[in-house]
Amino acid sequence: MNQQAEPFLKDAQAREDLADFTQVHVSRPHESAHLHVSGRATYTDDIPVVAGTLHAALGLSAKAHAKIVSMSFDAVRATPGVVAVFTADDIPGTNDCGPIIHDDPVLADGVVQYVGQPMFIVVATSHETARLAARRAQVVYEELPAILTAQQARAAQSYVLPPMKLARGDASGKMARAAHREAGEMTLGGQEQFYLEGQISYAVPKDDDGMHVWCSTQHPSEMQHLVAHVLGVHSHNVLIECRRMGGGFGGKESQSGLFACCAALAAWKLLCPVKLRPDRDDDMMVTGKRHDFHYTYEVGYDDEGLIDGVSVDMTSRCGFSADLSGPVMTRAVCHFDNAYWLPDLSIAGQCGKTNTQSNTAFRGFGGPQGAFAIEYIMDDVARSTGLDSLDVRRRNLYGKTERNLTPYGQTVEDNIIHELIDELEATSDYRARRESVRAFNEKNTILKKGLALTPCKFGIAFNVTHFNQAGALVHIYTDGSVLVNHGGTEMGQGLNTKVAQVVAHELGIPFERVRVSATDTSKVANTSATAASTGSDLNGKAAQDAARQLRERLAAFAAEKFGAGEVSAANVRFANDSLVVGDTAVPFEEVISKAYLARVQLWSDGFYATPKLYWDQAKLQGRPFYYYSYGAAVSEVVIDTLTGEMRVLRADALHDVGASLNPALDVGQVEGGFIQGMGWLTTEELWWNAGGKLMTHAPSTYKIPTVNDTPPDFRVNLFKNRNAEDSIHRSKAVGEPPLLLPFSVFFAIRDAVASVGDYKVNPPLNAPATSEEILKAINAVRASAAVGADRRG
Ligand code: MTE
Ligand code: MOS
Repeated sequence: MNQQAEPFLKDAQAREDLADFTQVHVSRPHESAHLHVSGRATYTDDIPVVAGTLHAALGLSAKAHAKIVSMSFDAVRATPGVVAVFTADDIPGTNDCGPIIHDDPVLADGVVQYVGQPMFIVVATSHETARLAARRAQVVYEELPAILTAQQARAAQSYVLPPMKLARGDASGKMARAAHREAGEMTLGGQEQFYLEGQISYAVPKDDDGMHVWCSTQHPSEMQHLVAHVLGVHSHNVLIECRRMGGGFGGKESQSGLFACCAALAAWKLLCPVKLRPDRDDDMMVTGKRHDFHYTYEVGYDDEGLIDGVSVDMTSRCGFSADLSGPVMTRAVCHFDNAYWLPDLSIAGQCGKTNTQSNTAFRGFGGPQGAFAIEYIMDDVARSTGLDSLDVRRRNLYGKTERNLTPYGQTVEDNIIHELIDELEATSDYRARRESVRAFNEKNTILKKGLALTPCKFGIAFNVTHFNQAGALVHIYTDGSVLVNHGGTEMGQGLNTKVAQVVAHELGIPFERVRVSATDTSKVANTSATAASTGSDLNGKAAQDAARQLRERLAAFAAEKFGAGEVSAANVRFANDSLVVGDTAVPFEEVISKAYLARVQLWSDGFYATPKLYWDQAKLQGRPFYYYSYGAAVSEVVIDTLTGEMRVLRADALHDVGASLNPALDVGQVEGGFIQGMGWLTTEELWWNAGGKLMTHAPSTYKIPTVNDTPPDFRVNLFKNRNAEDSIHRSKAVGEPPLLLPFSVFFAIRDAVASVGDYKVNPPLNAPATSEEILKAINAVRASAAVGADRRG
């Protein structure tokens, strides 16, 4: 036995501690929590600037669709402090920052396609000067006809991509023969990402045509490609770095590109560091948001509310370019089924091209928009049959071993929605509260309550198979400290914490030994966006792979060095900051310093590619998702029928994250997703005027939820489960799916509104259910209830 090793394993307690050693499935604070709360977390704008740094501002279009006849910059250039003005003509490479289809100019070239489109860059010695001067440009436009809404785009067949169609069985025949039929139409609003840290890029020219860009982005590799194309250089000339974002929510997946490209272009032309940090109004005017949708639908069903056939036609407002609108619509199409078995259905999805901001990713990425439609239909069917909406929903759920094939050809193999709803129904006291809501509404004429339970099922993986890969690097330094780098980005969701936990667990060391460094395209190459909720699934596995290789090397070394050849490498265990070799526990630090002297490689790369996936985009068939994550929520609301004011009184959410890597972080994601989705469906309203100008471009007019909007009784729980697939420690992704849970808020509002017509009329309530919208729906219900009463009379 080695003399220096502590022989503590003889102690029974120590053996138990060893068996219990875990760094995963435990709650621990976000790795940067102490920095977030003390204001010391470095965001892009906090990075100390290099001497000589200049500041850029964008000149924005005032017209929705127009030819640019002329631009005069005399007054701009005459402003003291202005250094340069750049237009599309100054771009050395290609004038494009489109992530898929190349229809996205960095700077407008000849025509403008929305109010807010960047036309030129002003560079000045200060941020304020650049902004002020940008407004002094004289632009002459020749206006062209503009299309603003999804409906207008549908009517004009103005699309950014060919329409998508997915059909199975005989929807129209089944509907024609059904006992009951319903048809309807509604709209679902968009949503501004409202990351607390806005878009920002800081570009510093480097030796020999190099460019280093600090960019607040979810997709450093994409930024690298875009900047390289705009500058006309190779990818290896460009380095993108991001330590953290103050939120991304999808808004920094592709659309950080424009800012990275403009900062890099100015830095390239001037050979000076340039920072571009739009203010909130400009950020909201320039960037795309969640796609708003317009739907028409038809459904046939029986007396019990079982759906026979259903068809939906959805059109999204994409804005002027494709951006990620195609994948967003694909996900909408693949989530129209939500948790329901719909054997006979037809889905049409149109990506409407409009003269507005180019809409993009937002938490859920079209999934919420698809699932919202079937939930609306379920809600209609329930009211029309007079059955409880929960019973109608249950009746239509996917089965466990049959009735479980999705319209896109993937079998639902891991269905736990029945158990999950059972548990939530019981813990939320759903049935008794349904009774008391009815009783309340019978007694009260002005205040009305509503209640709803909605389920969700969300597919995890990128539909596009090749995005489902990730890389990581793990370095162990000679003092035993560990540095991890992976391709994912930290936006507050806690990805770095989870990845560090995985590495600490693998190496049997305390979390504190592990540090995760900034995402950097010069470290891990060819990364995917941190998106589709796959961050920890992908990067957790890649980092585990790297740590495993180190573990194997260290085990082989330790077996020989400390086990005197009597212990096999496979029997060396890693726990409690030690390597356990036979009866000897050697401190991790000691193993590392000896391994270094013995010339063992103490760093490793790791890689992961999600198995089992394939996807045929043309046919909309395949297995696009590795697994599903499930959840359900019950919300109770009260509305004031005189003012349209609404409050959520109580919300219970039960969500499936498999075997959670970190329950505290996951509960945080569920809470955050719920509140964010609730804002989308209730108070957040994007409103463009007749000229196509977004008028709600600041927090003064665009209302995200505040802490006061949190339900006073808010019960969030994680469903006890393990992933059926071999995901990282059997956990499940959590980032986006909880955004669908507040559907329950919307349908509780609709339930409350329906009470004014004695639950006989389906309220024509659109989302967001703002006070105005609630009042409109109440009036409509009263009007049609009166007509119905006349007819009966
Ligand atoms: N949570 C915070 N705090 N901030 C964010 O920007 N983005 C969401 C979600 N949760 C976001 C967040 C979105 S849109 C996605 S896709 C996932 O986090 C991405 O991170 P993950 O894949 O590591 O879960
Ligand atoms: Mo999230 S919308 O996939 O960035």
